Amino acid sequence: MVSHLDTSADFSWPSIIQGGMGAGVSDWRLARAVASVGQMGVVSGTALDSILIRRLQDGDLDGSMRRGLKAFPYPEMAERILEEWFVPGGKGPDNPYRLKPLPVVDMNRDDEELLIVACFVEVYLAKEGHSGLVGINLLEKIQLPTLPSLFGAMLAEVDVVIMGGGIPLAIPGVLDAMAELRPVALKLNVLGANRSHDHKIEFHPGTHISASQEPLKRPCFFPVVSSETLAKTFVRKASGHVDGLIVEHFTAGGHNAPPRRDGAYSERDVCPIDKIAALSLPFWVAGSSASPERLREVKALGANGVQVGSAFACCEESGITLEIKKEIAEQYFSGELEVITDFRASPTDYPFKRVDVKANSSADACRACDLGYLRHIFEKEDGTLGYRCPAAPRKSYIAKGGQAEDCEGRRCLCNGLVATIGMGQVRRDREVQPLVTMGDDLSFLDSVEREASGLPTAKSVVDYLLS
Ligand SMILES: Cc1cc2nc3c(=O)[nH]c(=O)nc-3n(C[C@H](O)[C@H](O)[C@H](O)COP(=O)(O)O)c2cc1C
Repeated sequence: MVSHLDTSADFSWPSIIQGGMGAGVSDWRLARAVASVGQMGVVSGTALDSILIRRLQDGDLDGSMRRGLKAFPYPEMAERILEEWFVPGGKGPDNPYRLKPLPVVDMNRDDEELLIVACFVEVYLAKEGHSGLVGINLLEKIQLPTLPSLFGAMLAEVDVVIMGGGIPLAIPGVLDAMAELRPVALKLNVLGANRSHDHKIEFHPGTHISASQEPLKRPCFFPVVSSETLAKTFVRKASGHVDGLIVEHFTAGGHNAPPRRDGAYSERDVCPIDKIAALSLPFWVAGSSASPERLREVKALGANGVQVGSAFACCEESGITLEIKKEIAEQYFSGELEVITDFRASPTDYPFKRVDVKANSSADACRACDLGYLRHIFEKEDGTLGYRCPAAPRKSYIAKGGQAEDCEGRRCLCNGLVATIGMGQVRRDREVQPLVTMGDDLSFLDSVEREASGLPTAKSVVDYLLS
């Protein structure tokens, strides 16, 4: 099946993709700001169900969530969510957020609906008022929400699905089937599973839509790759059409592909751009690429452009709290900023770029995750499935069959990342500590135009990159 964008005629891809940044860093506002000036805006699809219900519990003060909900094609579904989660005027800063159930394999209908609607709302709002391109970013490592999330984004006519954090070979085929409203399934990664056991998650679009629902547009699919071998694997083995590639260098913000050797990166981990160009697919280069010189350089090597994360994360429009963004800029200008490639922090076991900030640093470092997106799924002796996270309290992790050494140095990314966008859970009257990620290279701050706040806008980052 071909993707819905007619890339054959006068179409040309933008030079800049604003990278998807979870959780809630690249929200609809940032993606819309980027897409409005003719580049590609990408919303993060990570934890959007929790983010939607937290925005509603904060009172949805500017009405944007309710505007998005109103546009959802099946009003009863949106109304159920509004009724359940909206708190007029907001819950008050000292009250904890009410939680949805943690993600599980046999998700109930309400939880599927919440994911569908949340992803619809985010993409719908990002696409509002312009004709630019909008993508959604999902992570292969977070499997349980993937299918309903894709469906919600497709109901909002998302243009591109970008997926990193693993090797999502099955997704192109899923997009083909979903566009035709056919049932879909994904093989689950289950630790310790008996080979003869076939664990999968299933999703039936028909459960949520009316018989008159028209087929959906099939978005383009861009996997994030870090090597030529992986890029070739996608071209040869993906379950359907791959429309482009994001080639990400290990200096990029967020999670990085693990180094090939010895727990340290070397030249061997640098993906040769000319070899990617030989695959004849559109591609964008990510990681330390936020400069006009780098954009020209990669284009000369055959790339369509760059995918930029950190520079957009520092913009006024990103989801990170103003306090944290200002502190990062201040740390950078005073020479104090240290970006650590932390090989232990993430429960995914992927290296994770971390910046320590003072904002709220005395608050509770969360060990008891109440969001659960990064839990590992494991097979118990009786063949049923269990869930455990190495960033959770050690005792409970070990009681579920995990090894004590797995817990060393872990951080609760789920709660920490959501605290970074100002929606941290309140524990013992205080918000949990934020956990901030940035790429290695923030030198764009020296050159990009900044506002009175000390921060750039998405348009100023785009203008700078195209200058
Ligand atoms: C705050 C932040 C969060 C990120 N989260 C994700 C994510 O959820 N999924 C993903 O594929 N990439 C994520 N990334 C990577 C970006 O999409 C992008 O590829 C990367 O930031 C490019 O490198 P740069 O930071 O040097 O510009 C994140 C980056 C940052 C800075």
